[in-house]
Amino acid sequence: KIPLLIDTDPGVDDALALLMAFNDPRHRVVGLTIAAGNVGLKHTVGNALKLCEVAGMDIPIFAGCAGPLLHPAPDAGYVHGENGFGDVAFEPARRSVEAEHAAQAILRLSHEHAGRLLLVALGPLTNIALALKLDPTLPQRVARFVVMGGAVTAHGNITPAAEFNVYFDPEAAHIVFEAFPQVELADWEATIAHGLLHDRVVEWLAADSDRARFYADISKKTREWSADRRGDHWFAADALGMAFALEPEGVVEEAHRPLAVDLGHGPARGMTVVDWRREGGHPDRFRILLRYDQARFEGLIQAALAAR
Ligand code: BDR
Ligand code: CA
Repeated sequence: KIPLLIDTDPGVDDALALLMAFNDPRHRVVGLTIAAGNVGLKHTVGNALKLCEVAGMDIPIFAGCAGPLLHPAPDAGYVHGENGFGDVAFEPARRSVEAEHAAQAILRLSHEHAGRLLLVALGPLTNIALALKLDPTLPQRVARFVVMGGAVTAHGNITPAAEFNVYFDPEAAHIVFEAFPQVELADWEATIAHGLLHDRVVEWLAADSDRARFYADISKKTREWSADRRGDHWFAADALGMAFALEPEGVVEEAHRPLAVDLGHGPARGMTVVDWRREGGHPDRFRILLRYDQARFEGLIQAALAAR
């Protein structure tokens, strides 16, 4: 099986992506490294532990950085609930986090699975940036690097121009994006093109499994928030990123372009500037997901929720 390491800030859509990964027959999740982002680190770590407990997955979990590298940023508790899991009150998981720091775990696991590792980032890129500062040779040992982040024509979600994961820690995104020879990107705009009909999601959540029951609870608040503001579809960004990572065969349309992150402090902070003209002379290091097979995407989600 392909070893899969996921850096994540759960987060409701992160949780769905994790269930998809747990259910994948071709990959084995070798660790979860936890970022701050959607909510504070205490909650994102607690949520990862709880999700693994509910799903019966014994995967090592490593706590990472408690905030962005340079500039504090607001979280997304208003979308995901103040605890990141829809403000559902649950007993904390019985298991606790590993002693090793996420950045060190990323490096160690990259050695243990050198040349085979699939690294997937579903949150702000702080932990991976720190790992790169500790050891810039990390990319040489990663087979594929898939990121949910950015807004490739600057139609952002957290600001007009920027997507949340990049905006939360643009300096980290810059460090990470400069370091990897190829970055496979599922951005916010691809997410918008792959909305999930609320009615269909509700059907999937009715599956007779602990995973579906737990997920129905923790996602309720954000699905209602989304239905109020964004209409018939729910947008599960990290789930699309995970589909892209697990089954790249589902890609229908993609583009290869250079990309840079705006690190200024004006309205474009955190914007992912893609050179669509291709005239800047920079290599096309970003494989940008434009369209994914919707039926395959939905099938992965449905199966992940129904799994026991
Ligand atoms: C991204 O931001 C977070 O709120 C989600 O979990 C996802 O990773 C979407 O912009
Ligand atoms: Ca996330």
